Parts: sequence; structure tokens; C-alpha cells
Amino acid sequence: MYDVLIERGLLSAVGAKSAEVLSPGRTMVVTDEHVAPLYADTVLTSLHRAGFDPALTVLPAGESTKCGTQYIALLEKMAEAGLTRSDCVIALGGGVIGDLVGFAAATYLRGIAVVQIPTTLLAAVDSSVGGKTAIDLAAGKNLVGAFHRPVRVLCDPDTLATLPPEQLAAGMAESIKYGVLFDQSLFDLLAHGAPQDLTETISRCVALKQAVVSRDFTDRGERQLLNLGHTFGHAIEACSHYRILHGEAVAIGMRMAARAAVLLGVAELDCTDAITDALTAAGLPTRAEFTAAELTAAALHDKKRMGDTLKLVLPVEIGHCALHPFPVDRLGELMEEVCR
Ligand SMILES: NC(=O)c1ccc[n+]([C@@H]2O[C@H](COP(=O)([O-])OP(=O)(O)OC[C@H]3O[C@@H](n4cnc5c(N)ncnc54)[C@H](O)[C@@H]3O)[C@@H](O)[C@H]2O)c1
Ligand SMILES: [Zn+2]
Repeated sequence: MYDVLIERGLLSAVGAKSAEVLSPGRTMVVTDEHVAPLYADTVLTSLHRAGFDPALTVLPAGESTKCGTQYIALLEKMAEAGLTRSDCVIALGGGVIGDLVGFAAATYLRGIAVVQIPTTLLAAVDSSVGGKTAIDLAAGKNLVGAFHRPVRVLCDPDTLATLPPEQLAAGMAESIKYGVLFDQSLFDLLAHGAPQDLTETISRCVALKQAVVSRDFTDRGERQLLNLGHTFGHAIEACSHYRILHGEAVAIGMRMAARAAVLLGVAELDCTDAITDALTAAGLPTRAEFTAAELTAAALHDKKRMGDTLKLVLPVEIGHCALHPFPVDRLGELMEEVCR
């Protein structure tokens, strides 16, 4: 298992920490236009000092960068920069940069090393860990990808200080998710809003995710628990034409899952209010502005990927969730109830 280093101020030690797992050589730092002016210089300076010869590529910010065109353009840049099998690429940014650069690293020369430097809370607690990489197609998000583990994840919580509040909140939704899934005391830590210092939050979420991923890397069993709030959340994102952030949609979806757990008799304790309060304290929405019919239609649009049953992730109590098979043809009924 690769390691995830989480430490305030780590950004200025990126070079030394990369040199511990890679022999210094040519490398390429890939980032986006928001992150570059904030953090690229620190990373490049640190890499130079450790003996690397880094190139820099700055891409537009936003989900649309996770596309085939940017992917091919990035591979061409990597080739022009002369990266070889023994070199690495460095993803500096949120989940968009992490997923795109991870996928480029997975496929360039049939796979080269990637170092992930997450700079959003969502990337720190979720996307930079676990080895899933992807780009989007017109037909949907994350439809092309690969499993490719980073050689190291270097997370500096100080970089999160510049995040816009809604991006911090979106990352809080995924962090609260780990509490609901696995750890009541983590949930309690996050129940009153984002802690000032996020180091402990990130460390605990990453440890929980790594434990699940190490037992089910290819997502055939318990890794599916990580989809808590996502079945409903994806429908909300689609209905909003991706205007609502992923984390916001997951927040609303988690409340719906808590309601569903009660309605389907899976909950031992009704945790709807506790989850709603924690999400609200983090500045997240908890109710969708779409009708049950709209959400059902959006969820069923994914039907080809789920067959006749879908696996709902439902909270039994805070800190413990269950995978619950549910017939797709009853989704409309359930949606009516959970939207109330
Ligand atoms: N691979 C996985 O396991 C996995 C898991 C969850 C999500 N994802 C993917 O992650 C993506 C979403 O990631 P995200 O939420 O990080 O979005 P993002 O990468 O678009 O970043 C959000 C915004 O914050 C800006 N930003 C990033 N760091 C900043 C900083 N430190 N200061 C100021 N601004 C900063 C970015 O430029 C962008 O505008 C989606 O494409 C999703 O599919 C992947
Ligand atoms: Zn998510």
C-alpha cells in the first residue's frame, strides 16, 4: 500500500517527499488555472531543490477539463516533455486534475508513476485516495478510466485555506459520509461544522477509505458502501445539469438515504435529524428542489448500469451502514416518500 502523508506545510517539502519514493528526473506538474497562481511556485521550487527537472502544465478549471480532448493534449505534452517509463507526473489540484492526470499516468507508456497533491477537501478525503482515475464522455461522467494507484499522496491541509466556502462545504459532505458509514466519533467531530484545522479530519477519512479499498480494490463488494448518498445524489446532479456541486448533491442524497433506511425498516435508530443537522452546520443543502418524478427519471436513466435491482446504501445507525438490494421498479414509490 502506498502512503498518504498529511501535514500542514508539506507543500514546500514535495520534492524531498517525492524523492523518497522516486529517483529524481524529468517530471511534469499538472494543475489548473485557479491553483497554479497559488501553489505552483512552491511545488516547482521544492522539486528543483530535490533534484527534479519539472515542467508545468496549467489547464482550465472545471469538470469540462476531464474530457478526451484535454486527455490527448496532456499525453502529447508529456511526450513532448520527454517523460519516460521511469519518470512521473504530479497532479496538483482538486478531483478534476487528480482524475485526469491519474488516467493519463495510467495509460501513458502503459503506465507511469503519479504523485497526487490534493488541494480541495473533496480530493484530500476522497478522490486522491483509492486509485480510481477517469475522464468523462458526452454520454456521462467517469465513463472511461482505469485503476492506477499513486506512488504517494502528499496532502497539505494549509492549501485548503484558499478554497471557496462552497467547495469546502462540498468536501465536508464526503467527510461526514465517512462518519455516518464507519465512525460515530468522527461524525461527532464534524457535527458542528468544519474544524479550523482539517488535518485530523483528513487523516481519519483517508484511513477509513484505505481500509475499505484495501479489502475491495475493484469495487465488487464493500467498497460500494462508499456510495452512501450517491444513488440519490447522482440523480440530483443530473436534474440540476451539474449546477449543484457533487458534494451538495451527496448531502441531499444522504438525508434521503437516512429517510429510506427508516421507511424500509433497515434503520435501528432514525438518524435523519442528526445527519440533517450536521450537513446544515457545514453549510450544505439537505433538500432537493426537484420532484420525485424528475429524480426517478434521472436515476432510471442510469438503469443500464444497475440491472433490475440497485444496491442502496442505508444507515442502520450513525457509524454503521448496510448495502440493501432494492427493485428498480419500486424506486418511484420510494422517491415519493424520501422527498417529503
Ligand atoms: N477518483 C475518485 O475516486 C473520485 C472520487 C470523488 C470525486 N471524484 C471526481 O472529483 C471531481 C471533483 O473534484 P473537486 O470537487 O475537487 O473539484 P475541482 O477539481 O473542480 O475543484 C473545485 C474548484 O476548486 C478550485 N480549487 C482547487 N483547489 C483550490 C485551492 N486550494 N484554493 C482555491 N481554489 C481551489 C479548482 O480550481 C476548482 O475551481 C469530479 O470530477 C469527480 O468525478 C473522483
Ligand atoms: Zn462522491
